[in-house]
Amino acid sequence: MLMAHWRKVLLCSCLFAILIALGAGLVRVAAKSATEAPAGFNTPSFNSAQSVSNGIAEPAGDTFARDQQVYEQNETIAQGLGPVYNATSCVTCHQNPNSGAASQITELRVGHNDENGNFVNPTIFINDGKNTITGRSIVNDRAIGPEAQETIPAIENIRTLRAALNTLGDGFVEAIDDKTLIAIAEEQPELSEGRVHGEVVQAPIFEAPGQTRVGRFGWKDQHSSLLSFIGDAYLNEMGITNRLRPTNVTTVLNTTTGVEDQPDGLGLADIDHFAQFIRGTMVPPRDTVLGATPAALKGQGLFTRVGCSVCHVQSITTAPAGTVIDGGMFTVPEALGDKIIHPFSDFLLHDIGTGDGIVQVGPQDTANKLRTAPLWGVRTKARFMHDLGSLSLDNAISRHDGEARQPTRRFRELSPEEKEALITFLKTL
Ligand code: HEC
Ligand code: HEC
Repeated sequence: MLMAHWRKVLLCSCLFAILIALGAGLVRVAAKSATEAPAGFNTPSFNSAQSVSNGIAEPAGDTFARDQQVYEQNETIAQGLGPVYNATSCVTCHQNPNSGAASQITELRVGHNDENGNFVNPTIFINDGKNTITGRSIVNDRAIGPEAQETIPAIENIRTLRAALNTLGDGFVEAIDDKTLIAIAEEQPELSEGRVHGEVVQAPIFEAPGQTRVGRFGWKDQHSSLLSFIGDAYLNEMGITNRLRPTNVTTVLNTTTGVEDQPDGLGLADIDHFAQFIRGTMVPPRDTVLGATPAALKGQGLFTRVGCSVCHVQSITTAPAGTVIDGGMFTVPEALGDKIIHPFSDFLLHDIGTGDGIVQVGPQDTANKLRTAPLWGVRTKARFMHDLGSLSLDNAISRHDGEARQPTRRFRELSPEEKEALITFLKTL
């Protein structure tokens, strides 16, 4: 009896020790097994036969080329376009230098503050004042007829333009664990003498009602799931209702009944193809030739030294394949799991003095905060910042204030040659 008992204890503690060792080992193995995410501008527009994905597995019968074609398709009124909209396809605004990237297109958001200083979404009158559109800060520039055209009442005096964002590599961003983003936020005060503390906001997951996850997409971190962002975009950019956003924003000039985005022969709706396309894109690649020059290497060191990298975080590792995310609705696939990415962003909200006054999913204190602009792919842009108001990288840096005041001051104090080196480094991204 006694022997048996001790054997059991021995066995138990042995097992326990093995488990601990395995646990520790596993952590190391996981860290070691992380590999660089594939990089490339590999989705040439309207040439999907030449496109190469990051290796993501496709649903039965689907191809990456087909996902891209749906993303590039122009929608018509018969297919549900409008009544109010901004453009007829995703690629119209996400194309430079290839499908899925960003563009120079901006869109309008407005609203006002109530007597307590809290942001309130606008009431937009259409149809000669007979109807209103409410519940959102975005205002569409186009309508399928004059009756539905939105215009901006004088009382909606908070106004901003917001640039289209790059979506290449966003599948990897979606695959970042919440804990990783929270840990970055918690480290920032220590790295900046208490000056920088990124705000984490929880964003609702439309496909998992009632659940939230750390926001990382959009200028306000208003979404955490790509599918949710895409469902929102299909309605708010193109006026196409879908299973996640099933109701048009107005009945004026609305000719369709029911959800407009219906599944195809493969059982996939357009929003599923869009999500599959974006999740299948590679991350924006570096200019490795310029990146290897002495000036760029020196600039990279300065970028870290003056404190830019506290917010523009160079490297993040995604969660392991098999991790269940998006409220249980998506499992990180092999192609996206355990990958090292270099977004040069913390995906957190900061007040650097450029805030647009608009509140979306975050609390009221996010009104004047914006997500750290990811700098991957920045060399493909001619204008910078959320409003595209900066025509040079130098000007974009000089607009940083607030939480970024110290790094900006340090940048100004660099010698002309050092400043040039830092800018050269940015041009390699
Ligand atoms: C009229 C231009 C326009 C069209 C059309 C458009 N978008 Fe966008 N897209 C934007 C803008 C502007 C933003 C930034 C929105 C914000 O945060 O206010 C954006 C952001 C995004 C993001 C977030 C990227 C990130 O990393 O944060 C995704 C994903 C996205 N769009 C997908 C789509 C899809 C899919 C479609 C087609 C259904 C689409 N967009 C159509 C302009 C557009
Ligand atoms: C406190 C966080 C923080 C720090 C520190 C910081 N930035 Fe930024 N950066 C941001 C945010 C937030 C934005 C977006 C602001 C906007 O669009 O109004 C941004 C935008 C940019 C852009 C524009 C990118 C684009 O695509 O339009 C550049 C370039 C940039 N930062 C470079 C730098 C450099 C260089 C430094 C160091 C001198 C630096 N930043 C320090 C948060 C930061």
